[in-house]
Amino acid sequence: MTMDKVRLGIIGLGNMGSAHVKHILDGLIPNCVLGAVCDIDEAKLKKYADQKCYADSAAMIRSGDVDAVLIATPHYFHTTIGIDALENGIHVLTEKPISVHKADCERLIAAHNAHPELVFAAMFNQRTDPHYLKIRQLVETGELGELRRTNWIITDWFRTEAYYRSGGWRATWAGEGGGVLLNQCPHNLDLFQWICGMPSAITAIGAVGKHHDIEVEDEVTALLEYPNGATGVFVTTTSEAPGTNRLEIVGTRGKLVCEGGKLIFTRNEIPMDRFSAETSSSFGKPETWTIDVPLSKPGNGEQHIGIKKNFVNAILRGEKLIAPAEEGIHSVELANAMIYSFMTGRRVELPLDSALYEEHLKRLIADSRFVKKETIAADVDMSTSYNNNAGK
Ligand SMILES: NC(=O)c1ccc[n+]([C@@H]2O[C@H](COP(=O)([O-])OP(=O)(O)OC[C@H]3O[C@@H](n4cnc5c(N)ncnc54)[C@H](O)[C@@H]3O)[C@@H](O)[C@H]2O)c1
Repeated sequence: MTMDKVRLGIIGLGNMGSAHVKHILDGLIPNCVLGAVCDIDEAKLKKYADQKCYADSAAMIRSGDVDAVLIATPHYFHTTIGIDALENGIHVLTEKPISVHKADCERLIAAHNAHPELVFAAMFNQRTDPHYLKIRQLVETGELGELRRTNWIITDWFRTEAYYRSGGWRATWAGEGGGVLLNQCPHNLDLFQWICGMPSAITAIGAVGKHHDIEVEDEVTALLEYPNGATGVFVTTTSEAPGTNRLEIVGTRGKLVCEGGKLIFTRNEIPMDRFSAETSSSFGKPETWTIDVPLSKPGNGEQHIGIKKNFVNAILRGEKLIAPAEEGIHSVELANAMIYSFMTGRRVELPLDSALYEEHLKRLIADSRFVKKETIAADVDMSTSYNNNAGK
């Protein structure tokens, strides 16, 4: 029997999950109905008394009420609930990051590989933004020439102490698995690799709890080395106001800068490498044109609604995914490598050794002074680490 509407179940009804529910109930996602909702917090379910409610995702997945789930829980559960859904024939759209660390990404992706008939997507909503779509096109088509240097200063993720106190799982190694790189930056790290490709090595400096009473990173500066010799810098923090969001990409044919809603391409009339090789001038530079790049649409695109529409269309008629979840491993790998680099003082070559990083994270969890029993990820055995750290 062919399906004409997708019955989507939303798992996790917090800030993001409740917005996803609203989009469906407001009829913004064609051919999608709310199949059921799920949250371990009964109080969250009360608001949805007229819907099918589950306090346990495993029960919802096996209920027959949903064809697909959208996982909007704390990050660790993206892996465990995602695997459970895929193994039970349910399509999955997971919030970012797809997992907390690379080894979990590999487990989640393996579950999908065993069920390739299921649609498996990730909520990288910023991929629908016309600015990033255009930048990607300019890089991919060679309009910018060969990549020379990348730079993303993304320091406008300002978060307060009140924010970090707002959820027990937030900003702990056991509950969230990282800080600004795992919560705020998955979008930027995803776009960075989507546009410029993956670097081959990372060296980072950073700090945990530098400006907040948290145990995870709230400030990171990373140097990136790309396979073709290009270099890059990624700077982020949750403790800077007003903060900056400035993406600059340089290729042999010029410079792209995206900031403040504008995309400016300063284009070399003659590619810089050719100019350098052929000119007789010692100090000359290529002539440039400055282009205020026109975008396909004003604004920031369809964002979360666009990704849900695309997911539903992929299930119903095989539409190509904007953000296949498999690609989510890259942003996780970048985040893990940056954390590992600044914590060990080492330059990290990619691909990252996923088992090595998982061990590193387990040690951080074991040494945590912030661990709270109720916020622990399901797959972490806290019995020893919690007791070992009592009174710290
Ligand atoms: N794409 C985006 O723009 C965006 C924005 C915000 C958050 N997010 C992501 O959404 C996820 C949730 O973030 P949030 O800010 O909504 O958090 P939140 O704390 O507001 O909500 C999480 C909800 O999940 C519930 N929950 C926890 N464990 C569960 C489980 N095992 N089964 C069912 N429900 C469970 C909690 O009770 C809570 O209601 C995070 O992974 C975050 O990265 C994405």
